[in-house]
Amino acid sequence: MTEQGYPGLGRRGFFGLAGAGAAGAVALGAVAARGGNQGQASAKTPDGGDPRGRSYSPHETHQSGIITPVPAATTLVALDLNPGTTPDALRRLLTILSHDIEALMAGRPVPGDPLPDLAQANVSLTVTVGLGPGVFRIPGLAGLVPDGLAEVPPMAHDQLQPRWSGGDLLLMVSADDATTVAYAVRILTRDARTFTTVRWTQPASWRGVDAEGTPITGRNLFGQVDGTGNTVAGAAEVIWADGSQPWFAGGTTLVVRRIEMNLTTWDELVRDRQQAVMGRTLADGAPLSGGVESDDLDLSATTDDGQPVIALDAHARLAHPSQNRGRTMFRRSMNYTHHEYADGVAVTSAGLVFLAFQHSIPEVFTPVQQRLDQADALNEWTTAIGSAVFAVPGGWEPGGIVAQGLFS
Ligand code: HEM
Repeated sequence: MTEQGYPGLGRRGFFGLAGAGAAGAVALGAVAARGGNQGQASAKTPDGGDPRGRSYSPHETHQSGIITPVPAATTLVALDLNPGTTPDALRRLLTILSHDIEALMAGRPVPGDPLPDLAQANVSLTVTVGLGPGVFRIPGLAGLVPDGLAEVPPMAHDQLQPRWSGGDLLLMVSADDATTVAYAVRILTRDARTFTTVRWTQPASWRGVDAEGTPITGRNLFGQVDGTGNTVAGAAEVIWADGSQPWFAGGTTLVVRRIEMNLTTWDELVRDRQQAVMGRTLADGAPLSGGVESDDLDLSATTDDGQPVIALDAHARLAHPSQNRGRTMFRRSMNYTHHEYADGVAVTSAGLVFLAFQHSIPEVFTPVQQRLDQADALNEWTTAIGSAVFAVPGGWEPGGIVAQGLFS
């Protein structure tokens, strides 16, 4: 193998790939045996088995970390590109990151890895790369902005803070444990340092398995079963770009909202009120109109005195595709708890790092969010304090890089 065989790679990248060998082959074998992430229609495993201990590949039609199961630990890091970044500098950065991601997801150390013993396969590690609007303001790239990428306009209930908003690049790192995530984040931000500064970092957690390791829909910090509608609506089939922009084939768009949840006032509500606000039960997430979790809502059901069983302002009703001209997103939300000192006093903020993937932000996310902003009963206990949007390109070929088509 010669260094020249990998266009765009310096010595650093070359030596990283040289070590690929046997460990990489083993990890890719594991992906093949488990079916990779293609064709999966829910955030649970296609085989219904334990989602932990998996290996994923970045060389699929879509990047991993979108419809693959949500593991226990995730950190999202938003980076800002240095002022004056050129297409060539961006290409070099994405080359380094792509090769780092290939190594990390296969369980191999990266070149010059200060912590090689932390590299492990079969820890469900995924790194998903997103490109913020700033990338498409780089001279020469403006014409390539994906059709579905647009900022979310301000909402009446927003209290957005710059420290949780925006960003030119997103690295979303997920794995079975927080130590592996911290390792991968440290490596990736180290290797991006000459090109970028960190804008924000958001760690989050999720529990998508029961005590036996069977995949379940996890719960948010209000105790609600959260993510049910993803399978019911078959959202995974409709979130991908239509392919009219060849460089973005297999891509999607992502909205990240940091939504603070007022746990104190929520906990003061009686259980019936908590359930009415959502339109689903707390015990198992079943619709209040009856059935089990996976049953769709019966929005026409009425009580004996003619009142809707699922309230007109219930979150699940207002967000339901049938109430939004079929608009369907794929959510991948996770819980956050953040402690800090403000004026010497310990303050805790808790809520969702809410992620929504859709083929188009202005056509799908924004109208649904506007409807919720106007009428959702949940607004009394939830406040968006951060917001960011990203184009998430498809996976890349071995030897290629993420978003390669931007540079050809
Ligand atoms: C802290 C804020 C939020 C909480 C606690 C929350 C919680 C939930 C829960 C428990 C469900 C029912 C189970 C399920 O289908 O997943 C649900 C459904 C849903 N939510 Fe949210 N949500 C929040 C914010 C949002 C936002 C900002 C949006 C979009 C703008 C959204 C869109 C949806 C959609 C599309 C559904 C599925 C409706 C269906 O297909 O039946 N949610 N949410």
